[in-house]
Amino acid sequence: MTTTWMNPIDHQFPNLTKIRITYPNSRVKHARSLKSLLISNSHEPSHSLLQTSQQSARSLVQKFNPKIPIEEALTPPSSWYTSPDFLSLEFDQVFFTGWQAVGCTEQVQEANSFFTGRLGNVEYVVCRDENGELRAFNNVCRHHASLVAFGSGKGSCFTCPYHGWTYGLNGALVKATRITGMKNFDVKEFGLIPLRVAVWGPFILLNFEREAFDDDDVGMEWLGSASKILSTNGVDTSLSYLCRREHTIECNWKVFCENHTDGGYHAPFVHKDLAASFDQLDSLSTTVYEKVSILGPENYDILGSKFLYPFIYPNFVVNRYGPWMDTNLVLPLGPRRCKVVFDYFLDTSLKDDEAFVAKGLEDNWKLQMDDFVVCEAVQRGLESPAYGSGRYAPIEKAMHHFHCLLYQNLMK
Ligand code: FES
Repeated sequence: MTTTWMNPIDHQFPNLTKIRITYPNSRVKHARSLKSLLISNSHEPSHSLLQTSQQSARSLVQKFNPKIPIEEALTPPSSWYTSPDFLSLEFDQVFFTGWQAVGCTEQVQEANSFFTGRLGNVEYVVCRDENGELRAFNNVCRHHASLVAFGSGKGSCFTCPYHGWTYGLNGALVKATRITGMKNFDVKEFGLIPLRVAVWGPFILLNFEREAFDDDDVGMEWLGSASKILSTNGVDTSLSYLCRREHTIECNWKVFCENHTDGGYHAPFVHKDLAASFDQLDSLSTTVYEKVSILGPENYDILGSKFLYPFIYPNFVVNRYGPWMDTNLVLPLGPRRCKVVFDYFLDTSLKDDEAFVAKGLEDNWKLQMDDFVVCEAVQRGLESPAYGSGRYAPIEKAMHHFHCLLYQNLMK
């Protein structure tokens, strides 16, 4: 297991040089969908291999029946948590479809700031250009495919470290080195390939699907009717961003999400100290919306509350408790491994209280460590021939909802 503390806006990209951007990237509005780019890539497996792999994955999807009510339903089979074909289908149908949380606005607060990331095999860079406009691109050089940006930082352009092709923060190729004599080459056609990017509250979202539509209601698309409920219950921009922590866990990404969607079932066993000191635990209940489930106190939607635990399908957890908020972004690294990115936010009046901050972060990390241990134990059990599938306790309705949404996406 590896753990690192970091502030995502502290890293500086060393190879940036100042180049004035002279023209916009004309390809922005004509980008092909990521799926079509992948399919047209001749290095991808042949069409028939892909079909066989997808058929095999779909046969695993069908082993779960979303029509059976939770009281009688079996949980998904263990193959959902171990099969590489199944994970491929998840990337295609779940992660590369619709809006996905990738970071927070603090990371690109200033003009010329950027951060990079990876989801499956997609490398991306999110940046704020010199005019303050938020942009996102596939982080792949159009010459011979090197990544052009690394980590996070500030700079007025991205210079590819391999042969020096240079891109503006609007994606345009502004310098291609030693191309004299090259024929049928138009620099306007070789900008970074754009991705759809949006902001909701303090979060940055990417959509890997296709070209933008001007009238998108991102909140409704991402959160459905829970959008208003979250923003009126303290999941908003009023908090100060504190720091980030990342951790790799030896379990399928869904195991971590399921730990959050069991309605607090595990808390008295895994988090004994928390359960003993938190007298509201028994009064929390789960409400399920279109793509969001929320664990919270009774009538929070009417009365408002600063204690809410939403899970945003497919892989984004928000914990909002008193002056704190932390988010857990769960990124699959393989069928049996995931990385979780934790971002911490705090009421602005408390952010300079070093002792309070240190204690809060330490307490939170102890809780997370307890969860890592059970998640890895679950994965080991899922690998055992003794286990096929399990049952739901009625309190686990958010988990059942999560599995039904997955089924729906994977069978499309
Ligand atoms: S791979 Fe980027 S300049 Fe050659």
